[in-house]
Amino acid sequence: MARVLDGAAIAAAIKGEVAEEVKALAKQGIRPGLAAVLVGHVPASEIYVASKVKTCGELGLCSDLITPPDTVTTEEMLDLVLALNNREDVDGILIQLPLPKHVEAKFLLDSVSPDKDVDGFHPVNAGKLQAGRPALAPCTPAGVIEILKRSGLPIIGQHAVVVGRSDIVGKPVSMLLLHENATVTICHSKTRDLGAITRQADILVAAIGRPGFIKPEMVKPGATIIDVGINRITTREEFDQFFAGDSKREAAFAKRGSTIVGDVHPKAFELAGAYTPVPGGVGPLTIAMLMANTVRAAKLRRGL
Ligand code: GUN
Repeated sequence: MARVLDGAAIAAAIKGEVAEEVKALAKQGIRPGLAAVLVGHVPASEIYVASKVKTCGELGLCSDLITPPDTVTTEEMLDLVLALNNREDVDGILIQLPLPKHVEAKFLLDSVSPDKDVDGFHPVNAGKLQAGRPALAPCTPAGVIEILKRSGLPIIGQHAVVVGRSDIVGKPVSMLLLHENATVTICHSKTRDLGAITRQADILVAAIGRPGFIKPEMVKPGATIIDVGINRITTREEFDQFFAGDSKREAAFAKRGSTIVGDVHPKAFELAGAYTPVPGGVGPLTIAMLMANTVRAAKLRRGL
């Protein structure tokens, strides 16, 4: 039986450690603060950001939720970001993505002070990560490493195959795995004979953003599978493709009219030695690592 890696439990342990750090900082009169910028009304983003703000409260961090309308211009957003860069009570700035199409997202992400870039999206932090210098690493990739380490799974010398090359997950998780002395292969949508490569993976990281993309025949039996995907499926056809015969999922799908599937086909998990389920695997780590990054940014900015 494959071992299920409980992301929620690992995230809870990290949040507990962050709360302790926040308490210790409070004794020095420091209260780390996160500013979250949520533009418009994207339902998934509203849920994510609400959860980030709530977690700040639970761990003793300050939070400021700023909600510009979806008519906001790039210039107005720039003024907002520059003001946050200068605010003494703000240690971390999070601009929830996606932004409306007319807003220049990359330009804005580049205008966040690298010291406050708790998403780790700024090119300065990406470059530092690449160069092996201490940096604020993107939250989801950092969470993947925490899952592997805290579950006692080996990384050194393992062949890690990352499927997906995004700036947010694929590239940074590849760098982090390399720094942990894995042998890393990065694959993507144009990779030829993908299955021949993924079948070599001791650690398979799926971050390609396509529901159930990794099929059983693409997995080496006993591999560790980390599924970063979060894909909402709403049609009966898709449901049957992934979850036919799963009565628990069936009930949830019937109730809500949708369910979540990762980038790994559920049947592929059966071959794994260990895997992160969706939901409840990598997802909970993203917020935990955001909190850890915010506390880290607060300390670094004060030279602690
Ligand atoms: N949208 C989806 N995931 C993320 C994330 O980790 N950070 C930000 N800023 N936006 C997101």
